Amino acid sequence: MLFLLLLLCPRLFAQNGIQHVSFGAPDKLTPYSLCAAKPMTADLPVGSAPFDLKDIHIRVNARGTVVEIPLDASEHLYGFGLQFGSFDQRGLKKRPIVNDNPLNNLGYTHGPTTFYLSNKGYGILINTARYTTFYCGAPRPGYVTVDIPGARGIDLFVFDGPDMLTAMRRYILFSGGGALPAIWGLGVKYRVKADFDQSQVDTMAAYFRAHDIPCDVLGLEPRWQTAAYSCSYVWDEQRFPTHDLFIDSLGKLGFHLNLWEHAFTNPKAPIYDALKDKAGDYPVWGGLVPDFADSAARRIFADYHRRTFAEHGISGFKLDECDNSNLGEGGSTWSFPELSRFPSGLSGEQMHQVFGLLYQKTIYDIYHRLNRRTYLDARASGDFAASYPASLYSDTYDHDEYIRLTVNSGFAGMLWSPEVRESRSVTDLLRRTQTAVLSAQTLFNSWYLQHPPWLQIDKEKNNRNELMDSARYVEGVIRKLLDLRMSLVPYLYNAFADYHFKGIPPFRALVLDYPTDKNVFDVSNEYLIGTGLLAAPLTAADTVRSVYLPEGAWYDFNTHERYEGGRTYVIRPGLDELPLFVKAGTVLPLARPLPYIPRGFRFDVTCYVFGDGEARGELFGDDGYTFDYEKRAFEKTVLRWQNGRGSVSGNGAGYTIGDWIVIH
Ligand code: GAL
Repeated sequence: MLFLLLLLCPRLFAQNGIQHVSFGAPDKLTPYSLCAAKPMTADLPVGSAPFDLKDIHIRVNARGTVVEIPLDASEHLYGFGLQFGSFDQRGLKKRPIVNDNPLNNLGYTHGPTTFYLSNKGYGILINTARYTTFYCGAPRPGYVTVDIPGARGIDLFVFDGPDMLTAMRRYILFSGGGALPAIWGLGVKYRVKADFDQSQVDTMAAYFRAHDIPCDVLGLEPRWQTAAYSCSYVWDEQRFPTHDLFIDSLGKLGFHLNLWEHAFTNPKAPIYDALKDKAGDYPVWGGLVPDFADSAARRIFADYHRRTFAEHGISGFKLDECDNSNLGEGGSTWSFPELSRFPSGLSGEQMHQVFGLLYQKTIYDIYHRLNRRTYLDARASGDFAASYPASLYSDTYDHDEYIRLTVNSGFAGMLWSPEVRESRSVTDLLRRTQTAVLSAQTLFNSWYLQHPPWLQIDKEKNNRNELMDSARYVEGVIRKLLDLRMSLVPYLYNAFADYHFKGIPPFRALVLDYPTDKNVFDVSNEYLIGTGLLAAPLTAADTVRSVYLPEGAWYDFNTHERYEGGRTYVIRPGLDELPLFVKAGTVLPLARPLPYIPRGFRFDVTCYVFGDGEARGELFGDDGYTFDYEKRAFEKTVLRWQNGRGSVSGNGAGYTIGDWIVIH
């Protein structure tokens, strides 16, 4: 049965430039109804999509709902979330669904979205938690055809431009603005081996401080609990006999503690009984799957975590395995099936698409209520995720893909951590570390390593305590790279403030800022950071790489060599450098590296002025630890270079501005 387009009833939102189309009988439980935070507003340029809403065709048939959105011959499409394998999605069939396995680039990922952007300057979001397929220009040329089986109607949003970056910003602001993590989250996170006990973690903490290796967050892996698969959420008192004292003493050394868990609730968990009738009908690892679409289930989970952990000083959690696995494949048989039912009315399929998001929301709300900021790790996310301060990670370990994920995260409204574990060579380790330094979260995930990977890159030798002959040398290079991260924190923090208040993704593809430059339509191995930096990471396979620099002039961050834009260059950044370029006209504030970022931090900043003419930079100042910025308790400091001298407006809260160094 086929109902051809009956009636298209566009309802206009209060926000400028966002149009909402509702057709048929859309699902009530959607990513928007479940997850969207209060929208933020900002002054944005005005534009509109290059087609009329009436040119979007929607029909409901026996299979579900089909949407056809016009697409002209010259359009390039980006998005569908944290895509591993592809960048320009034009011509592809994409099925952005939550999974831990990218499966031949079908669209499966930890962070899928039913959102795409066109270089014609607009974005489309299909508001559904059902598994949806996008045919981007084929089989019906001239359209993106969207197949939503099971849906009896649909809501969709059109985010206007005039350009792609503006459309992206509208989407992020509409999602509640980008996340502003706790400032200490922008330092270094090190996750210790899963079976470490309290004294082994203390020894690791002492190592970082004794060896001057920056570290803000230590993460515990599964075995801090009495049961982990599924989770009891109860400290293992054998391994962590004095956990409260332990958290406090780490705190005195400047470490925040983060706990691994997943949401599958073990019968031994104190919240098991309360959640029993608020869970799906298929267990995972013998544990309940909480129905996070139900606010009562979220409250039970959150209240327990607040009382037991957050109020005892735990700074955040790693929300593991909230994605999905390909049941039965490769021996992986975990996660709930799509046919599950949840009391809220969601199917297992729909729950998968929102589970990571709702889990983030559950945990984030604890910290928000306590007026303490956090930075979470999460293995799944989705539409409208931007306001949650969580960074995604993956067990997959392909460095090229990790770089592409950083680039694609800018179209996803998500943050991504290209984590570092063991390595094939020292070069591999250091190239991976460079990428981690130039990302939303610098994360070493040593969950199966006795020693930091820079002391022994080989997993087996590492666990046999056989350190490399070159361990101390490599440690020195790591220290240098991590110090560079700490120098960049003020700049990165400002980029995150722009994410929150202006909706500008802190890490993003070149095509977002240079949408008319054909040379960047396909560039998925370089990305912009904030307003003035361009990263071009290398992998172990490269001794050199080529980098395309867009219009304007650019400077090598390391050598200060000047490059004219609009051209491609071959570069060979060293292993102890950052593969980074600075745009002429930028004042780059670089801080003296701190070992960690304490409450009441103060950064000593040197202003590097790049270029011959005027230059500008910004610093965002607040306490970095609370949500008082939501009540306007923050200060913007503007760094200006004009007529051969530097000036500072704003009181520089949190920063001591030192020398100005001009690089021509
Ligand atoms: C995986 C996770 C790893 C590590 C491990 C511990 O699911 O991706 O990072 O936490 O569990 O068992």
